[in-house]
Amino acid sequence: MKVLVVGGGGREHAIAWKLKHDDPTVDLHCSPGNPGIAAVATCHAIPAADLDGVVRLASRGKFDLTVVGPEAPLAAGLVDSLNVAGLRAFGPTAGAARLESSKRFSKELMLDAGVPTALATWHGDIPTAREAVRKLGTPVVVKASGLASGKGVMVCESIAEADRAIDDMLASHRFGTSGDEILVEEFMEGEELSIFFLTDGTAYRAMVPAQDHKRLLDGDRGPNTGGMGAYAPVSLATSDLITTVGRTVVEPTLRALREARTPFRGLLYCGLMLTTDGPRVVEFNCRFGDPETQVVLPLLTSPLLPYLVRCTVDGGLANAGELEFSTDSAVTTVVAAAGYPESPRTGDEIDLSAMPDDVLAFHAGTTRGADGRLRTAGGRVMTVTALAPDFAAAQRKSLAGAEAVAFEGRVLRRDIGWREQQRRAGAP
Ligand code: AMP
Ligand code: GLY
Repeated sequence: MKVLVVGGGGREHAIAWKLKHDDPTVDLHCSPGNPGIAAVATCHAIPAADLDGVVRLASRGKFDLTVVGPEAPLAAGLVDSLNVAGLRAFGPTAGAARLESSKRFSKELMLDAGVPTALATWHGDIPTAREAVRKLGTPVVVKASGLASGKGVMVCESIAEADRAIDDMLASHRFGTSGDEILVEEFMEGEELSIFFLTDGTAYRAMVPAQDHKRLLDGDRGPNTGGMGAYAPVSLATSDLITTVGRTVVEPTLRALREARTPFRGLLYCGLMLTTDGPRVVEFNCRFGDPETQVVLPLLTSPLLPYLVRCTVDGGLANAGELEFSTDSAVTTVVAAAGYPESPRTGDEIDLSAMPDDVLAFHAGTTRGADGRLRTAGGRVMTVTALAPDFAAAQRKSLAGAEAVAFEGRVLRRDIGWREQQRRAGAP
């Protein structure tokens, strides 16, 4: 099989690693990739945003499958263009990717289909948004409707804070056109959980649930980020809970999209809040999560590629077995650049000479200069995953690996998995 992975972050490194790990003979390519991915795949200097360039590469290279990692090219219609060119691609079409690219679309769909989620209203003007905030009371959540790399959500403790968030988005255009329409949303209380479902549009298969750490700093303080670390499995997520999410969330959502003639094929990421009323949807994403993928795929013992291929065909998953996972625990720690998430500094030299050999060091924002040296090139620089039969050991190993990613001004959390640790210690 000849496979092209589109993207160049930690998630794509984990996907590429898994494909190569399952089958060392796979002819693996990545566009654009990164210096870590270059160890397992041939990298092509075409950015994921250059849709025509990627389609040309996939056509000329006669790839059997193109796996699209990030949300932006999915929302822009890369899978549609690949399909028009007669190429097989893993990921939803632009129409189905609206589940992620328009929080308004996704909220309307959920409310119509009876999927449990927070109540919300949407607004393009300041006065009605302010009125909605006053109606809901605090805490209240203000969200940009469009794509904002996980940063366009403000959880506001006071009316004044919510008013500022509304002004930031609608008057100051802090998230550009992504914030031209906003959602004012009911605050949900509980623990968050991410579950990935592979789907062919009708049938679906669950992956092991994971928990992300969205806040920048230890103790879940500081601004929201794309994610600073993750672990799996999550002991809160029983098989009953996964079945409930399948029935109450995944099935009605897939049905609504089939009925709208935009069936969702690919990976449906359910971001959930485990409330006292049961699991409710915080958000949908239309692709593998980052950094959750860096813990979920290393635990997956079933080969990934046959499942990805099955998801590209109507009814393809119907006869596939359940996905199988190791009973180990996995923890990943993100190492970010100084200034992340607002304005990450780039260009700092990275020294990996102290990296232990019992971890998976996935590259994200790294680049190799003409001098051959590794340098920082993005907000999240690397994510370091460790597996162990014992959760605490996986935590320790992941942190030790992250501490071995040495560069000026690095930022990392040293408490990834703290909730699980407390649960296992029997804390109330
Ligand atoms: P999103 O990009 O929609 O997942 O939001 C980012 C983060 O903001 C989530 O992971 C939650 O931590 C928080 N958040 C979003 N919506 C809500 C909500 N309705 N209630 C509580 N927290 C929320
Ligand atoms: N980890 C959250 C995301 O991938 O959007």
